[in-house]
Amino acid sequence: MQTVTTLAELRLALERLPGPVGFVPTMGYLHAGHVSLAERARKECASVVASIFVNPTQFGPNEDLAKYPRDLPRDLALLEAAGVDLVWTPTPEVVYPPGFQTWVTVEGLTSPLEGAQRPGHFCGVTTVVAKLFNAVGPQKAYFGQKDAQQAAVIRRMTKDLDFPIEIVVCPTVRAADGLAMSSRNTYLNPEERQAATVLFRSLTAAKAAYETGERDAERLRQIMRDAINAEPLVRLQYVSCADYDTLEELTQVTGKSLLSMAVFVGKTRLIDNFVIGE
Ligand code: PAF
Repeated sequence: MQTVTTLAELRLALERLPGPVGFVPTMGYLHAGHVSLAERARKECASVVASIFVNPTQFGPNEDLAKYPRDLPRDLALLEAAGVDLVWTPTPEVVYPPGFQTWVTVEGLTSPLEGAQRPGHFCGVTTVVAKLFNAVGPQKAYFGQKDAQQAAVIRRMTKDLDFPIEIVVCPTVRAADGLAMSSRNTYLNPEERQAATVLFRSLTAAKAAYETGERDAERLRQIMRDAINAEPLVRLQYVSCADYDTLEELTQVTGKSLLSMAVFVGKTRLIDNFVIGE
């Protein structure tokens, strides 16, 4: 596995890789979810490229970029074990050189849910992902279902900007007790880690209600709210039962839909979702 930093090094290394190229963009501090993306890419593509870049432009002023966990040697070992061929670890100066002033914005889809709580976040995500796509030029790119809105926004951007890239969305990887893998889980103390299972429990309760015939979206949202409010260490930010493609809140569930939520467990913000009505 080769590791490169500059754009020139990346371009040279890419010349030697046979296609199709599968791309796994990450912000590092990898967990089993990232590894599952790299393994899927390994199965489906002749070459696998990953990037590790903690993208400053997708962090809000109150979100601690400096505190974001980092462990490059461990990340490289995990990517190598997953069969990745090339890792790009650009510096902020490589991605945002002096004078940088071009942004990629997806409208509409970025307004609700995460977009409403984290102004500017998706603009940072789409700008960096567009730059990464341009630099790597993959045939396929892999993202996790855990960031469902991010996946929807990137699908939209890819279509709207005619990137010839297939977006592959892979299932959320969970701990044995249901907690979705996230780099932010490392911030949780043991009591918070236990309380954090409420995301999975509340989604499971709403899904069970859906499966036994509940179609009233507000009832499903209330089931999730009730479960979360019963957990004293957890503060609800939002729950949603929305159309899977448009992310508009539903009154009735009639087709593929997204149950999702964001909560604070102590100071740590966690999100999770289930797809229903597939
Ligand atoms: O999901 C992430 O880790 C990031 O948002 C991404 C897609 C790598 C862009 O920085």
